[in-house]
Amino acid sequence: MKTFEKKIRQSASQHLDGKPAVTQGHVGWESPSNIAIVKYWGKYPGQVPANASLSMTLRESVTRTMMDFYFSEKRKKPGVDFEFHGAAHQGFARRIEKYLTGLSGFMPWISHTKFTIRSENTFPHSSGIASSASAMSALAACLCEIDEQMFGKDPAIEFEQKASFFARLGSGSAARSIYGRMAEWGITASCGDSSDEYAIPLPELHPDFFGLKDSILIITTGEKEVSSSLGHDLMRSNPYAKLRFEAAEENMQRLCNVMRNGDLGQFIDIMENEALSLHAMMMTSSPGYLLMKPGTLEAISRIRKFRAQTGLAIGFTLDAGANVHIIYPGQQEAAITNFIASDLEELCEEKTIIHDGMGMGPRKL
Ligand code: PMV
Repeated sequence: MKTFEKKIRQSASQHLDGKPAVTQGHVGWESPSNIAIVKYWGKYPGQVPANASLSMTLRESVTRTMMDFYFSEKRKKPGVDFEFHGAAHQGFARRIEKYLTGLSGFMPWISHTKFTIRSENTFPHSSGIASSASAMSALAACLCEIDEQMFGKDPAIEFEQKASFFARLGSGSAARSIYGRMAEWGITASCGDSSDEYAIPLPELHPDFFGLKDSILIITTGEKEVSSSLGHDLMRSNPYAKLRFEAAEENMQRLCNVMRNGDLGQFIDIMENEALSLHAMMMTSSPGYLLMKPGTLEAISRIRKFRAQTGLAIGFTLDAGANVHIIYPGQQEAAITNFIASDLEELCEEKTIIHDGMGMGPRKL
């Protein structure tokens, strides 16, 4: 068993016979999405990443989750009523129920609890912003808070570490949303305290990276043809997988240096290499698939041309979808938002662009 998991199980076993200090109440957390610069793509059983990843935490694209809980010894499995933007959502309720059942091994009180959950996102569904990262990290933070209300704080376990551990079990990338600015998840030689079990805040970040912007071009709002979980699975038989995991580790080492010394040019170089490598893995999977659209390629080409002409620090990254994240320093905001409006807006579905940027992590409501 992994080290942190053992610690969590030991902590939970101490209050197996004890009664919770509170049996009902209400908690609420807001948690952001994030955009990976070095991508997590491919995993082993138990949500263990095949390579380490590093992401920027967003500020505006958040999930707000309010949770009422009612504990009763008589109840034997978790119950969930779930509303998304004010409407009952059976599909999400079932997914959360499954997630909670999985977590009851770590927090046995979950099996005896009825949850009424209301959740909303500040960004549109299918916008290419990872809603699972913000949603699962908000849920995990709520559960950790209830756990502390019921049984007190375990001084041996940090709230954030525990929330990141539980968020990861819902969605790998959600582990990173627990920390502000930049977060790292997965064992890598470039970060001493890195872990596969939870994310950590990037230990050293040059101030030139503070306040980075992310303008997201919504090329399409259509559902992805291939889900991320299937994409991760297909990496198991991808003939380039081993090379990809090695390249990701090299990029992690280069990027961690760059994040320390503030070299924006190198940052963009690594980020774009990662985005294209992620999509190359999709194309070389079996069956191969393409999530980029003609608008994605046109946007990339125009961004690179604008960079060559102006010398401005502007680069792109892609998530597992067609939408394009444009990353640039806050000082260049005026010039770059003008360029986006004049040259890129026409490539977007209904001219939709979401202007976001680096955020400071989850917030208690
Ligand atoms: O967390 P998941 O299982 O939805 O996978 C996320 C994968 C990418 O978004 C493509 C990359 C990443 O590291 O966030």
